[in-house]
Amino acid sequence: MEPVSLPLVPAPRAWLPAEGVLAVAQARITLAEGTPHQEEFDGSEVPGVQAESYRLDITPTGIKITAEHPAGVFRARQTVRQLLESGRTEVPCGVIEDSPRFAWRGMLLDCGRHFMPLDTIKHTIDQLALHKFNVLHWHLTEDQGWRLDVPGYPELAEVAAWRTQTDGSVYGGFYTEQDVREIVAYAAERFITVVPEIELPGHSVAALAAYPELSCTGGPFEVETQWGVHADVLCAGNDRVFTFLEDVFTYALRIFPSRYIHIGGDECPKERWMACARCQQRMADEDLASEHELQSWFIRRMEEFLENHERRLIGWDEILEGGLAPSATVQSWRGTRGAIAAARQGNQAIVSPTSHAYFDYDVAVTDLQQVYTFDPVPPELNEAEARLILGGEMNLWSEYIPPARLDRMVFPRMTAMAECLWTAPEERDFPAFFQRLQPHLAWLTSLGVDVGPAARPVGVLADFDPKTRQHDLTFIMDEDLDPDTFALRYRILPSDLVFDPAQLVEDQDIPSLTTSDPRVTGPIVMTDQMDLVAAQAFLGTLPYGVPTVAKLTRHLAQGIAPVLAVPASSRYPGGGPHGLTNGLHGGQNYRDGHWTGFEGVDLDAVIDLGRETPISHLEIGCYQGATAWIFLPEKVDFFLSNDGQTWRPVATVGHDISNKIQRRIIHRFEAKVAPEEARYVRVKAHSLITCPAWHPGAGGPCWVFADEIVVR
Ligand code: ACM
Ligand code: ZN
Repeated sequence: MEPVSLPLVPAPRAWLPAEGVLAVAQARITLAEGTPHQEEFDGSEVPGVQAESYRLDITPTGIKITAEHPAGVFRARQTVRQLLESGRTEVPCGVIEDSPRFAWRGMLLDCGRHFMPLDTIKHTIDQLALHKFNVLHWHLTEDQGWRLDVPGYPELAEVAAWRTQTDGSVYGGFYTEQDVREIVAYAAERFITVVPEIELPGHSVAALAAYPELSCTGGPFEVETQWGVHADVLCAGNDRVFTFLEDVFTYALRIFPSRYIHIGGDECPKERWMACARCQQRMADEDLASEHELQSWFIRRMEEFLENHERRLIGWDEILEGGLAPSATVQSWRGTRGAIAAARQGNQAIVSPTSHAYFDYDVAVTDLQQVYTFDPVPPELNEAEARLILGGEMNLWSEYIPPARLDRMVFPRMTAMAECLWTAPEERDFPAFFQRLQPHLAWLTSLGVDVGPAARPVGVLADFDPKTRQHDLTFIMDEDLDPDTFALRYRILPSDLVFDPAQLVEDQDIPSLTTSDPRVTGPIVMTDQMDLVAAQAFLGTLPYGVPTVAKLTRHLAQGIAPVLAVPASSRYPGGGPHGLTNGLHGGQNYRDGHWTGFEGVDLDAVIDLGRETPISHLEIGCYQGATAWIFLPEKVDFFLSNDGQTWRPVATVGHDISNKIQRRIIHRFEAKVAPEEARYVRVKAHSLITCPAWHPGAGGPCWVFADEIVVR
């Protein structure tokens, strides 16, 4: 058997080449005798490995499809499409024998944080189908929006579906019964099962805004605008909650044929239950020793309801805490521990760990190669336990993904996930996959898919010696990339090229590097005329991911390590002792190595310029990422001194940016001063110290992040 050399994604299980070629223009598609011609898929079960298997006989006259089940015929047709429609003129003759490694190959689409229009969902289903996925896990309810219009509960569509954002605008939407039926049918035509997720008992603030009597405190509540985990959850002691849930699920079971139903179960803080008389009474009545057992009781009660309606419950791995419901399927997201624990108890599991399957994370965190190393079966499991691993999912949480950005987060990583879930591990080889991917991605682009970057594989450090005025830039490749396989090349760019470090590199006009550019062999020495340099990782001759561009900001304090009143956190040391004065600005990713973090304290830095120097401009760049508990300082004080003892305040700079804005913000606090001679500069950024009262981390320490102190 030859290694798979066809441009197919995911790669098929086996390819037996034969003599000759098939001219694409002449190809006739036929079904082998006995292969089902047409049959409706009702979307109730995932079809199963056997049902999705197929065989293709490619001869000089055409392609013959053999399959036992219409699902197999459908998967076969996707292979045929890839062979015949992706722009080649001929296809080698031979036989493809193919079957999936896992029965469950899914994508979670979060329509709670961002409402996804039906066209976006259908476009995504089209791509899932082309890549042989079979589950759309439709996340429908969240703190920030409830998306199902449930009969008898009009306030869900009228209130819970809409949030008033920080800027006063109203955002939201919901799906009618007709919408749901349309999506379920569209998916079923493609042999994809739609598994709805209706979250309980946590992530329910939107529902509580509509029906506050379902909470422990009685409210009132507003549909959340802040991402994160929220304290207010469904009351476990109030029987009206179960009436509500049974009504909601009765409706959901009517419109969703899927046998598996997801009830969430993750991230449910217990503080309201601890303080609620009804929840405490429930614990006493049901002989429950802890709030975790109360959560477990809650889940079992829903499991019983679903079982009585011939459905099966799926929940996130928190449903293991306090005791697992007997027939529940666990979706493991906090690593694979949940899958291991579930399988060892004889329960089924679906695996979608944050480490490989969270496609809401930027590719700087989870790149294409990282996804490609995903194996849903934890090595800790024995053979019998491993059979309980149904498969995996990629999770598209949408806090930072409006519909227009969805494709860019999904692609190209979906192609790697397709292969992790379909292709046998021994057929998986990243360099070969990456080669195959190039024409495939070009084809997807021609089909209207907006393919995003595969990786941001290169970091940069800067060192500046103020005496020699020599600037050394050190580019470092992601440590996951094998230096025998990947190479790093660089190019000095014209200094007048416009580049903004605060914007994503792929959104800017950066010339592409090629294999004619020199390899990085050590630090790159920058002269005074050079400000911009790009570095690019290569896999063979192919660029891997986007380039990293270092832009030097030249100023008087460069390379002078500041003396800090309180040291930076060891978790966010920035570029080390010179990080705040290395001439490099940080980007949107606060983990890019340029941001220096201070936890629960002010940033207070003194810079000794070595001699009295005229100064006219002072500046510090700061970051806000409320969900990472990073806030802009309230204000920044700038001082000058000639002896380092007596300080002259020269400016206090505030801002009017709300700390409730969820978008990541980079803000430069700048002070122009009448030129003044000074040897010492002091910058004090006043931290909020603790997270504000509205924030999930209220009262706990918050962060100040800074990238560069600029002195001119
Ligand atoms: C999850 O990411 N909270 C399941
Ligand atoms: Zn309660």
